[in-house]
Amino acid sequence: MIDESESPVGGEAEGKTFTRRFFLKFLISTSAILAVIPFMPMLSFFFAPKKEEKSQEKKIANVKDVPVGSTMVFFYPGEEGEDRSFLTHLTPEQLRKAQAEGRDEYVVDGFVALNSICTHLQCPAELPVGDEIICVCHGGHFDAIDGTVLAGPPPRPFPMVSLRIEPDTGDIYAAELVGKIGYGRDA
Ligand code: FES
Repeated sequence: MIDESESPVGGEAEGKTFTRRFFLKFLISTSAILAVIPFMPMLSFFFAPKKEEKSQEKKIANVKDVPVGSTMVFFYPGEEGEDRSFLTHLTPEQLRKAQAEGRDEYVVDGFVALNSICTHLQCPAELPVGDEIICVCHGGHFDAIDGTVLAGPPPRPFPMVSLRIEPDTGDIYAAELVGKIGYGRDA
């Protein structure tokens, strides 16, 4: 008598089912991995530990280079791209208002600096107009003096660049980046 379960026909069928199941699992896993790969940089940005950038002091300008009421673009801590930052020489009126409203924490001798990469989806923001900086990508509005978010989708303030000004020469140094470029700083 022939036991059907051991017959070559049954074994072959099981083998085929097993192979098909294995192949399907393999296909699904591979597709899932391939679907996630393009988003890896974005995921790593959101899930990366929030670390403060360690930066070296760097001379960025002299007080004579930035007239009262104007803004200069500089790069810090690197030399290009997302290190794009603004150095603004406040008017006496802006300074008085900022002091009265407690927005002058990072102001040094009337100068203030911040990194200009939007904390929403990392567009470079426009140069300040008055007390405001606008990111035109999705309408983010920031305070030009302390970098806080005034309106729109950005979740956090701009990173600030702390300054040191040499009294004898008037040389302005970027001393430290407070926060993380593209992420911002915790208010
Ligand atoms: Fe700036 Fe969206 S990237 S508001």
